[in-house]
Amino acid sequence: MKKIKWLAAMGLLFFSLSGQAQEFKTSASLLKTIKTNYVKAADQYKIMMKELEGDRFPKTFSNKTRKLETSGSGWWCSGFYPGTLLYLHEKTNDQALLTEANRMLGHLEKEQFNTTTHDLGFMMFCSFGNALAADPKPEYKKILLNSAKSLASRFDPKIGCIKSWDSKEGDFLVIIDNMMNLELLFWATRETGDSSYYKIAVTHANTTMKNHFRPDHSSYHVVNYNPKTGAVQKKHTAQGYADESAWARGQAWGLYGYIVMYRETKEKVYLDMANEIASFVLKHPNMPKDKVAYWDFNAPNIPDALRDVSAAAIMSSGLFELAKYTDRKTGQFYFNNAEQMLKSLSAAPYQSLPGTNAGFILQHSVGHIPENTEVDQPLTYADYYYVEAMKRYEAFNAKKK
Ligand code: GLY
Repeated sequence: MKKIKWLAAMGLLFFSLSGQAQEFKTSASLLKTIKTNYVKAADQYKIMMKELEGDRFPKTFSNKTRKLETSGSGWWCSGFYPGTLLYLHEKTNDQALLTEANRMLGHLEKEQFNTTTHDLGFMMFCSFGNALAADPKPEYKKILLNSAKSLASRFDPKIGCIKSWDSKEGDFLVIIDNMMNLELLFWATRETGDSSYYKIAVTHANTTMKNHFRPDHSSYHVVNYNPKTGAVQKKHTAQGYADESAWARGQAWGLYGYIVMYRETKEKVYLDMANEIASFVLKHPNMPKDKVAYWDFNAPNIPDALRDVSAAAIMSSGLFELAKYTDRKTGQFYFNNAEQMLKSLSAAPYQSLPGTNAGFILQHSVGHIPENTEVDQPLTYADYYYVEAMKRYEAFNAKKK
């Protein structure tokens, strides 16, 4: 008996040191809501699929025209729709979702050779990556590998970064969002044994850590490097309120990105970074009570500023993962915040009413205020990370069984 107790204690110690055994109490009522939400979300996406024509991908539902807006496969968000369909198929086993996901993967496939964008992680890993996880077909691997090669082609060793946006000569633009595209590169190294993808991801993350963050661990949106010398020329915003402000989705991309960095490398420096970003956003005086962030932490008209549901969805999903990697107390803090985000997003005013918004699950996201596009509208990536957050929450419950 004594021996069993001793072994159990050692086991607990091992798990708490490795940070893998965190258990958090899930709410029965939220779990019930999530179950209903999968079905409601599937119904919404069946409305959306009826509205889509040919090879068009959903983008948003316009407040002005009251119509679904679509894009071609080259738009950075094209992977989210098939990715969400696959997540929802996993949860509902509804064949119509899988058929539609496969139809869209067919239209997306050609982007594996697209070297004009850094968004291949979003486009290909959220779609074909999910498809591969559900069904390990060799053709998915090939597509993902070509995508990783295309993404890696944008890496410049002098700068130590993947180029985000093509721009005029003399500019090398890197945005914080780029952290989200690195997961594809880690997968490629695992798959092929070729460490060059891994090294690119680590170098990009290290350069970003050095140059994108302020002393308070908020991040700039864009860093412009000198392509000849690698020196930083300018730090500014494109989608935030101001150059020195903390654009909410940018903070969410950085948070999620460094959590993935820690998952993939187990290097403490990335865990520390993720903890610092989490602390910045969660303890920020402008974080509202329902934890659905304003579109920019420094928006001038808070508390009347718009919320960004997409930022909350990304943060919620990321924090559920981060909660597993930290000490018990910090983990509980992350879990509670992520749970509150999920609760808020699962209710009015953030949920679309059934049959509305051309089938989007959530409303009230903010795409690009300075350009006045996709403002206070549904967005595919808000839906994607929301469904992912629900899956991650449910997984805490599954572990207990
Ligand atoms: N990656 C672009 C955005 O977050 O809007």
